[in-house]
Amino acid sequence: MYNSRIIGLGKYLPDNVVTNDELAKLMDTNDEWIQERTGIKERRWIKKGTDDSSAVMGAKAARIAIDRAGLTKDDIDFIVFATLSPDYYFPGCGVQIQDMLDMKTIGALDVRNQCSGFVYAISVADQFIKTGMYKNVLVIGAEYHSNGLDKTTRGRGVTVIFGDGAGACVLSREEDNTKGILSTHLHSEGKYADKLIVKSPSIGHWVPEILDSKEEDISYFPYMDGTFVFKNAVVRFGEVIMEGLTKNSLTKEDIDLFIPHQANLRISQFVQRKFGLRDDQVYNNIMKYGNTTAASIIIALTEAWEQGKVNDNDTVVLAAFGSGFTWGSVIIKW
Ligand code: ACO
Repeated sequence: MYNSRIIGLGKYLPDNVVTNDELAKLMDTNDEWIQERTGIKERRWIKKGTDDSSAVMGAKAARIAIDRAGLTKDDIDFIVFATLSPDYYFPGCGVQIQDMLDMKTIGALDVRNQCSGFVYAISVADQFIKTGMYKNVLVIGAEYHSNGLDKTTRGRGVTVIFGDGAGACVLSREEDNTKGILSTHLHSEGKYADKLIVKSPSIGHWVPEILDSKEEDISYFPYMDGTFVFKNAVVRFGEVIMEGLTKNSLTKEDIDLFIPHQANLRISQFVQRKFGLRDDQVYNNIMKYGNTTAASIIIALTEAWEQGKVNDNDTVVLAAFGSGFTWGSVIIKW
């Protein structure tokens, strides 16, 4: 059995910065409320009229990751793309990447696990490498949320949280089995699907029905039971990190760097306290980018690495929780 190791990281954020004060011009909200409840100061929202989309941003991040890996597009054996905001209802963004990067006719898989999307995606890539099927897998997380949010006071509880962006990594075969991804851990609890959901359009409730609806139909906007999500997130984050540590005979004292899905700074801080981690052991950037769902962990990991915060032999823990509910963790020896 082989090991898998991240050998290249890339990220792309749209230029357009949207501050909390700018949101306050669209809806009844304010900087103080948003910062106090979520930690977010600003986020990036794609400017309408630009070419950016989940696939386009994913391709930009992927080119950087492949380049930093010292590889070319022709060295990539497989693509895994995680997003909840794909360019098309179908096909998924993975095949767009194959085309945009002018790659060989390699396989492309799309992962639909929302905030846990990147953790699920890298877990899939890890299995393909561990079994020896592929050598280099491109893993992407990208989200274009801003065009699908309710930018009125009605949607403020959700809309202020989300941002656009993309991250990518190249996961490669590693002969040294003390380095790389040690284990991944995935979970779901579908009975809470409706606690964080975009219901429409779905095949059972298609566009004409929404348009023809007599009463205002807002089922195409995200709905979140924020308090319920918060309470479940803090419990599941804790459980799944412990599961990963225990599996590898590690303890919380062994964690060098924790990169949580950037759901909400308050959730990250809660988990940080639970594990007794110092500020320099946790990387957060939700203040600048908001919650970018499947892209958040890989953007944060890339940024931490760019800042020299990820070092050889570090024990790095990634963990996520989100819609589904789904949650998971990844334990890495860097
Ligand atoms: N600006 C101003 N006021 C607001 C806003 C806003 N953007 N949004 C809601 N409010 C108001 C509400 O209407 C409510 O007013 P009321 O008391 O008059 O009814 C009041 O603020 C409190 O609303 P709550 O929803 O109870 O606020 P809460 O303190 O729970 O904070 C939040 C909401 C931040 C969403 C919180 O529930 C939370 O952090 N939930 C976790 C979910 C999360 O982080 N999700 C991220 C995406 S999912 C994921 O990635 C896991």
